[in-house]
Amino acid sequence: MTLLEIFPSLRDGGMTPRLDPAIWPRDTHYDGDGRITVGGVALADIADQYGTPTYVLDEGEVRGRCQEYRKRFPDAEIIYAGKALLTRAVAEWITDEGLSLDVCSAGELAVALAAWADPRRIVLHGNGKPFAELETAINCGVGRIVVDSPTEITLLSALANRPQRVLIRVTPDIDVHGHPAVRTGVTDQKFGFPIGGQAVWEAVDRIVRQPNLELAGLHCHIGSQIHDTFPYGEAVRRMIGEMARIRDEFDITLTELDLGGGHAVAYRGGDAEMNLAELADIIEDSLDAACARHGFPRPRIALEPGRAVVARAGVTLYRVLSVKHVEDGHTYVTVDGGMSDNPRVALYGARYDAVVVNRHPTGPHMTATIAGRHCEAGDILAHDVRLPADLRPGEVLAMPCTGAYHHSLASSYNGIGRPPIIAVTEGRTRELIRRETIDDLMCREMGC
Ligand SMILES: Cc1ncc(COP(=O)(O)O)c(C=O)c1O
Repeated sequence: MTLLEIFPSLRDGGMTPRLDPAIWPRDTHYDGDGRITVGGVALADIADQYGTPTYVLDEGEVRGRCQEYRKRFPDAEIIYAGKALLTRAVAEWITDEGLSLDVCSAGELAVALAAWADPRRIVLHGNGKPFAELETAINCGVGRIVVDSPTEITLLSALANRPQRVLIRVTPDIDVHGHPAVRTGVTDQKFGFPIGGQAVWEAVDRIVRQPNLELAGLHCHIGSQIHDTFPYGEAVRRMIGEMARIRDEFDITLTELDLGGGHAVAYRGGDAEMNLAELADIIEDSLDAACARHGFPRPRIALEPGRAVVARAGVTLYRVLSVKHVEDGHTYVTVDGGMSDNPRVALYGARYDAVVVNRHPTGPHMTATIAGRHCEAGDILAHDVRLPADLRPGEVLAMPCTGAYHHSLASSYNGIGRPPIIAVTEGRTRELIRRETIDDLMCREMGC
């Protein structure tokens, strides 16, 4: 007998715990049995069918986010940053919704091409692109390559046997004060050429001398998890200024300005996220003002959101392995995943929430630390999470907002295979990526 059978009033939602729409896919609900469903499928059923840990991905949510970007930025090119999460199906959804794709390796490029993405709508990134990968990209006809070093210009000029469009990555010297690992707008770092400096000049000069390289525009990416729109306005002003200086010096008018990604999402209830309508306004206004000031024709704007497209579509399922109350200390809920499927906590100090999915969390609560199963004291998935006080091993927890930089950053640390990705839509599941097995890990052993 379920709780709802005992207390039918729960059905009305009177006591239904709130699933914050800022961090869960839009199509998330409690079903009649008090279980959480996403895309019409009970998460507990997915855990039973596919095992745990498992990444669940709501196709409707990904498509909805793509549509929102297209609606808010009707004149811009939206280039999905595949590093956030790239599988063949994701690439298909994204391109189907009219987005272009940003890849940063031959591996990501292969996935994009396997999804029949138009190579002309693929942008290749990376501060260190190996010769062979540049060759592959050029041979398959990628639309644009973002140049990140003088060496790359040499390699590209040797490789390009037909006109290849390129952008130059510029650091606009904007500090968004995020985690040091994602502050990519400041001058002293590995990406790009500092704005207004000699290096940009030299890069432009060398590119325009190459008959097979076509300089289309400039690119910048100022950081990640940015919820304030102001830095984007500032980036537009500085980048248009740089484009105007290039025009004055080299007599060429660049037509593309790629502003990168970095739009924040909420990981926990109450976190600030990027407001796309406000972002669109500030980009428009700054573009108008900067272009008027420099007498520069409006370039085509491109945006490269990654996280903001897929983060909220993802939910990770874990099974509880143990619940341990440390005397005068914390309560540790150990689950069957950890830093191998979510390294963001250890890498960036990211913070998450979690809920039990197989029943209504009614009754007394406890505050717990969710620990991973890896042999590292730092393998903690979430702090200060409110969970039912009677939580038992075997129950299933869901961690929302885990669609971006989870599967793509996952490892098989401690010999634990990477989780599958199960897509949900309209009450159906589809396995996009299968679980990595011990056999998969053993396959790479060559020695015995
Ligand atoms: C060049 C570039 N574009 C886009 C992105 C996507 O960023 P986000 O997922 O924060 O939107 C990144 C992330 O590192 C990046 O380096």
